[in-house]
Amino acid sequence: MKKVAVVEGDGIGHEVIPVAQRVLELLHPEYEFFNVEVGYSRWEKTGCPCNDHEIAALKNADAVLFGAVTTPPMKDYQSVVLRIRKALDLYANLRPVKGSGFDIMIVRENTEGLYSGIEEIGTDRATTLRVVTRKGTERIARAAIRLTKTRRLLTVGHKANVIKSDVFFREICIAEAKAAGVPFNEKYIDALALDILQHPQAYDVVVTTNIFGDILSDVASFLVGGLGLMPSANIGDRYALFEPVHGSAPDISGKNIANPIAAVRSAAMLLEYFGDATGAGLIDRAILQTLSDGIMTTDLGGVATTRGFGEALENEIGRRIKK
Ligand code: NAI
Ligand code: MG
Repeated sequence: MKKVAVVEGDGIGHEVIPVAQRVLELLHPEYEFFNVEVGYSRWEKTGCPCNDHEIAALKNADAVLFGAVTTPPMKDYQSVVLRIRKALDLYANLRPVKGSGFDIMIVRENTEGLYSGIEEIGTDRATTLRVVTRKGTERIARAAIRLTKTRRLLTVGHKANVIKSDVFFREICIAEAKAAGVPFNEKYIDALALDILQHPQAYDVVVTTNIFGDILSDVASFLVGGLGLMPSANIGDRYALFEPVHGSAPDISGKNIANPIAAVRSAAMLLEYFGDATGAGLIDRAILQTLSDGIMTTDLGGVATTRGFGEALENEIGRRIKK
């Protein structure tokens, strides 16, 4: 029996995660779910966004289903997502971008790079240390290469013409790809950000450092209709957390209009991680059917609410389970 920790977080996390959890419950009534509260609203109530107790609770689950948390741009506020990714050592952030004629997997290094957290704000100068380690690069390169083995091409995205830590990243990725015998190429990340929109079919697995992967996946979400559709998996050697690529979206939160598809697709990735590829496939097809029935949220040009789309999707999944 699987134990799933559910973190709604902040903002639209409270709206989209219940839909994703319901979908998991339909397919796997035997799973045990328990809630863990972290995030900005917890900080407002208690002065602490996430403590060791919550980290321990997350570690006690077989997987985490995560909404999004608000991170205010304040000097002394520590990002909860970064803390969790580091504490659970979730080094591989997998962000699939799939549509007609293209099937891309962005593999983002998730524990170091420009999100090292080694930084300071002075009076006249602020610095953030971009840390790229051999261990960190080898393991993300190997994760990307494992995926490439069942696919066709690895692209290394970097800025090695300017940034020395990317000279290091590039060399290790290329050495690993050569050693594994997978087809690879490379591209400067700025050019890649445009080219992935113009020629998405040219990409398959893309491996890159932390902030570049973060930006590239928001850019690439344009290919599939926006952030409301983009799921992700954060995978380490011991733990795994599944979350939409989007944030807490304060501009639309509380309005029951957020698109829950990204969260539901993240739940499908969770099922795949648990070995239920059939359930994951059923979810994907049920989403496409619901959309082609004309039921969609406003970000996709429809009129459905979050709960309205969720109910239609649950009905579609229910029908497919009975078949
Ligand atoms: P965001 O992803 O929350 O929103 C960007 C834009 O996309 C907004 O206009 C929003 O309305 C729209 N959007 C996002 N998800 C949507 C959905 N499911 N359906 C329809 N429209 C959707 O990014 P933003 O505004 O930069 O950040 C808001 C907050 O979220 C910040 O505090 C940020 O730190 C946090 N954040 C948290 C993340 C996480 O918990 N993993 C990831 C990204 C941002
Ligand atoms: Mg992001």
